This record gives sequence, structure tokens and C-alpha cells, in this order.
Amino acid sequence: MTGRRGPSTAPASADGDLGRSHVLITGGNRGLGFAAAALLADAGWSVLLGCRDDQRGAAAARALRRSGGRATHVPLDVTSPASIAAAAELVAAHTGGYLSGLVNNAGVFLDGRDAGPESITAEAVHELLAVNAVGPLLVTCALLPLLRAAGGAAVVNVTADDADPSTADGEATGYRMSKAALNVMTVNLAVALRSQDVVVNAVDPGWIPTDMGGPDAPDDTMAAARLVAWAATVARRRGTTGQVFTVRQTIEELAAGAVDMTTAGSR
Ligand SMILES: NC(=O)c1ccc[n+]([C@@H]2O[C@H](COP(=O)([O-])OP(=O)(O)OC[C@H]3O[C@@H](n4cnc5c(N)ncnc54)[C@H](OP(=O)(O)O)[C@@H]3O)[C@@H](O)[C@H]2O)c1
Repeated sequence: MTGRRGPSTAPASADGDLGRSHVLITGGNRGLGFAAAALLADAGWSVLLGCRDDQRGAAAARALRRSGGRATHVPLDVTSPASIAAAAELVAAHTGGYLSGLVNNAGVFLDGRDAGPESITAEAVHELLAVNAVGPLLVTCALLPLLRAAGGAAVVNVTADDADPSTADGEATGYRMSKAALNVMTVNLAVALRSQDVVVNAVDPGWIPTDMGGPDAPDDTMAAARLVAWAATVARRRGTTGQVFTVRQTIEELAAGAVDMTTAGSR
């Protein structure tokens, strides 16, 4: 990732009162999650980092606070219903009972265990679906009362262009399945929550140089983080919902109109 210091294009407040805006970012201790957390904290949001490792979560929150942000960490393993329930209670206690943003960012890409069809195992495909698709659904459902209580909230699901059938190359079948499921979840929850002032969108970050993407990834982590922040703020303000935004679009293009789900991730 490109680190704490990004371009100064932090998103504007959706409601003009960022002092009251809290966002939970799953997998917020490193990679894209941490970059988005840094950007939103810079913009004035109170950031809750949902992390499965307590020490890594605490260290990441400390780093954001050292830079002047409001940040704390919440123990959260998105594959554990008990952990999700406990995290929802902690978030409610921390925020006073509402949540303006949820970024379902935590994800896994099981390189050697999900290459071609010969390498896939039951354990690998179950893990991919549990972390990348079922987890975001369960986390969103557990936090729904808090999202509804915010009087305008955004859910941002971090997807991948691998969900787009036109990118199929015969590899990473389990990963592709998990992100396709996440996209379907995005659209269906968007419909379910349309009348409840909760927008649900997905963001395709491109191929970025995190631990997952590797050092040679060609895209920019901070640009992807800006897109996450855009979806958490501008999309919420506009009521845009059920869309996939890709990092290959400029912010101006995004401002001009939403992207149809069927074009998600086309390179
Ligand atoms: N990098 C890319 O090129 C790329 C491309 C397309 C989409 N994406 C998506 O972008 C998102 C962020 O990826 P990244 O590149 O930042 O990856 P990363 O650097 O590998 O970070 C993954 C994060 O997810 C967390 N995580 C994994 N399993 C978890 C679980 N069960 N519960 C809670 N947290 C869990 C990790 O926590 P630990 O530190 O505890 O492991 C870590 O914080 C993912 O959804 C990924 O699929 C990435």
C-alpha cells in the first residue's frame, strides 16, 4: 500500500457533521482497509477498525491516532457469528447506537489453493466464500439497526473485477465465485434497504500493491481508497445504490453517473 499520506482529496462530509460520523472498516489493519481508514480519518470521520488480530488492530488504530485521527479497533473475525455479534455490541456502545458507514473490506485470495480446478480444495472454497461473501452479508445484517439509526448510511463492499465473467482466465475459481456472490448481495440488499436510507454499493479497487496484490500490481492503493471514501460519502449523499464503481473511472466520471452492474470491472 502507499501509506498514510495520500493526496489531499479527502471526501466532503455527507451530512455536514463529521463529528457524528462513524465508519467501521473490516480488515482495517493493513492494505486497502488501512488506506481507506487513514483517508476517512483525515477527513474527520471517527474510524473503527474491525480486525481479527487484536494486537495488529490496536497498532493500526494507534498509528491513525498519532496522525491526529479519531480511531479505535474492534475485534472482528468476519467468519464467526459470535465475533460479529460481539463487534456489533461494541460498535453500538462506542458510537451511541448508530453507524454512518460500513466498509466490508476484509478479504482473502488463496493463491496456491485456488489456482486451476486441480488445486482447489473444499476447505479453500469454503474459506473464500466465508470471508469474501458470507461474512460481509452477516456483518451488514448485524449492523443494520445501527445503520438505520444513522439517518443516512452507506455500505461499501470491496469487490474485484474477477467477478466479471469477461475476465475469466480459468484460475481462481473460488475467489471469482466469492466476489460474484458479493456483487449479488450488494444489489439485493440495495433493493431491500432502498426505503430505509441505507445505500449499498460495491467498489472494484483494481489490482493494487498490498500483501494480497503483490509488489508489482500496477494500480494505486490511494486511488482505490479514495473510491471507497467516495462511495461512503458522495454516494450516500446522492442516494446512489446497488452499483459497482471501478477504480478505472475518474471521480468526475463517477460524479456524472452511476455504473451499471453488468459493466463492473471491465478493463
Ligand atoms: N489487492 C488487490 O489487488 C485487490 C484486487 C481486487 C480486490 N481486492 C479486495 O480488496 C480487499 C482488501 O484487500 P487487500 O489487497 O488490502 O488485502 P490484504 O492486504 O491481504 O488485507 C486483507 C485484510 O483482510 C483481513 N481479513 C482476512 N480475513 C479476515 C477475517 N476472517 N476477519 C477479519 N479480517 C480478515 C486481513 O486481516 P489480517 O491482517 O488479520 O490477516 C487484512 O486486514 C479484499 O476484499 C480484496 O479481495 C484486492
